[in-house]
Amino acid sequence: MDYNFALIGSPIQHSLSPWIHQQFLEKAGLEGEYRLFEILQEESFEERISKLKGMELDGFNVTIPYKQKIFPFLDELDDNAIKAGAVNTVVNRNGKWIGYNTDGAGYLRSLAAYFADLDSSMRVLLIGAGGATRGIYYAMAAEGYENIDITNRTIKKAEEIALLSDRAGTTQVLDLQEAQGQLEKYDVIIQTTSVGMNPDTEKTIMPLEGIRKDTIVSDIIYRPLETEFLRQAKAHGARIHYGHTMLLYQAQQAFEIWTGKKVPINEMDEKLKKVLE
Ligand code: ATR
Repeated sequence: MDYNFALIGSPIQHSLSPWIHQQFLEKAGLEGEYRLFEILQEESFEERISKLKGMELDGFNVTIPYKQKIFPFLDELDDNAIKAGAVNTVVNRNGKWIGYNTDGAGYLRSLAAYFADLDSSMRVLLIGAGGATRGIYYAMAAEGYENIDITNRTIKKAEEIALLSDRAGTTQVLDLQEAQGQLEKYDVIIQTTSVGMNPDTEKTIMPLEGIRKDTIVSDIIYRPLETEFLRQAKAHGARIHYGHTMLLYQAQQAFEIWTGKKVPINEMDEKLKKVLE
């Protein structure tokens, strides 16, 4: 059979998903297509979704700004979509649309792929409190991480994420300055804010003075490929983890949900780097 996938969101013209899924299809020896289905903010979401229904897709991805807006159109939800409060992957099972969220688990897969010593006893600092942080927080909590602290410019948003989890008691919520003063205690530091993204590539959310050399420093931004945050981490001798790898692993998980096939990432990391450079 020919697979029929799509992406909904806006803007999506520069999405890397068609490229990634085309590679997955080839690797899996499958035929198919991954199309962009842009839904402009001023369009009727409902009308566009009914058009999408008519396309008889096998599955589709959902990106900004529709990760929440899609909820009422789904027939079932996977647990992780409920916990993350957002859907990024939908599979069509016999006409029923089932919503998943592969962002958090995909991120964790990408981290584990690069750091063999990654362990749930590690102390983690999450910087930011948006949708991405939420997904990563829940995925890590589900994997048994017990020492996850959150820092954010707006403290209230970080508190909300911590409060929604059973691990609320073990999560410390810090303001940015407090977190900056205690960086040496973290084994993993994950930057999830939009600070440092194109075109503000010179900016960082905080300086990294005091981090240890064995600390893993991760930034989920992938445009630019290497953020100023990661450059500073490198200069301090820390181990670094690139944002584009999250894209690959969360797409790998989506592809697995759609086709039942787990394709290896291998050389795709280097290939994607070239596409982004
Ligand atoms: P997403 O859902 O993609 O994670 P988001 O919800 O827009 O994105 O969240 C963006 C994150 O970047 C938030 O943590 C935001 O901080 P606030 O919660 O205080 O808004 C953070 N952020 C964006 N611009 C920032 C800036 N100039 N300084 C500090 N934090 C910033």
